[in-house]
Amino acid sequence: MGVKPKIRIGMIGYQFMGKAHSHAYRDLPFYFDNPLEPELTVIAGRNEEAVKEAQQKMGWLSYETDWRRVLERDDVDVIDIVTPNHTHAEIAIAAAEAGKHIITEKPLALTVEESERMLEAVQKNNVKHMICHNYRFVPAVQMAKQLIEQGRIGRIFHFRANYLQDFIIDPNFPLVWRLKKEVSGSGALGDIGAHSIDLARFLVGELKEVTAMMETFIKERPIGEMTGGLSAKGDNSEMGEVTVDDAVAILARFENGTFGTFEATRFAGGNRNKNKFEINGEKGSIRWDMENMNNLEVYLADDETGVQGFRLINCTEEVHPYAGAYWPAGHIIGYEHTFIHLMDEFLRGIHENRQPVPNFEDGVKNQRILAAVEQSAQEKRWISL
Ligand SMILES: NC(=O)c1ccc[n+]([C@@H]2O[C@H](COP(=O)([O-])OP(=O)(O)OC[C@H]3O[C@@H](n4cnc5c(N)ncnc54)[C@H](O)[C@@H]3O)[C@@H](O)[C@H]2O)c1
Repeated sequence: MGVKPKIRIGMIGYQFMGKAHSHAYRDLPFYFDNPLEPELTVIAGRNEEAVKEAQQKMGWLSYETDWRRVLERDDVDVIDIVTPNHTHAEIAIAAAEAGKHIITEKPLALTVEESERMLEAVQKNNVKHMICHNYRFVPAVQMAKQLIEQGRIGRIFHFRANYLQDFIIDPNFPLVWRLKKEVSGSGALGDIGAHSIDLARFLVGELKEVTAMMETFIKERPIGEMTGGLSAKGDNSEMGEVTVDDAVAILARFENGTFGTFEATRFAGGNRNKNKFEINGEKGSIRWDMENMNNLEVYLADDETGVQGFRLINCTEEVHPYAGAYWPAGHIIGYEHTFIHLMDEFLRGIHENRQPVPNFEDGVKNQRILAAVEQSAQEKRWISL
């Protein structure tokens, strides 16, 4: 076996998603025969002590304290953006102009206008681009997609998604970047609802129109910052205004006539990361829940009367997407593996000279839906896409 060509990664940011992406690059060659071998070349952050610690802990070869330096380096092929949403456009456009391939976290940007500029920049500079809607890459979700494409559930009537978290339910949880519109763009809508919207587009098709309601339950919080994952710290001495939604509910019509309902909230006590959907078609139904991510529930109407009902499929058999790369059936995988699959698609896209999926075009379409939802909630009317 020959030595594989290296693809040299420069990553901007190093906390929650920084850890998920670093791990994915490291584990990818272990499980998958990707034609490229990622090299963790350089990681960037503003605080030297912290970025140096992250560099050593996560196995990067070097660090920079200014992301612009990473873009200038000749030994970097890919820019991976794992910083808060308000930085995505500036970094991605500069990276495209520097001729680097780009992978960025979701949502693509703060606004539709920003996201369109990002798409224009990657197209003009002919670089590969990807957006990290990692839930598409869960084997059970890929299996759902296969069943739908095979026509196993027939014409789809309903797509019903809830993305429920509860990490900011305490009014003393600090005002972190996720709660400031100028940094995050929106609240539960863009942070988690964007994932449900992506799954809807992936599994069912494009949305035609939406109507929505949004609410901010806690209007002021003590100022603070994220400390990694979904935890944060603040000293409770100064308060600031929450400028994004805490919860959103959306009704949608798909272009193919499917009836969509979505709910995204960070105030659903007891639900830590309950990202779930149910799809009802004329010949069957499919249910999935991230908190039980290896399983897919499937109901098929042509099962014999008397034994009909949802069956539980543990998507860990060799025939299931991605599962064959891991363990014997029943030996489950987890959240971090979704990023390994995503990186596999990204690097294959680069190697095969095609755009990986989902990419900035998906990001722009998602961003248009986020904007339409906000507009609908403000104007209390249906918005066409
Ligand atoms: N795909 C997913 O499931 C998922 C999950 C969580 C977050 N995200 C997305 O990932 C991105 C990062 O979120 P996170 O939870 O990792 O955030 P985080 O707060 O844990 O980490 C953000 C990182 O960005 C750095 N940073 C902040 N501002 C910066 C700036 N101006 N310049 C350079 N570095 C800066 C911080 O130092 C930190 O390393 C966001 O876009 C978020 O929406 C996606």
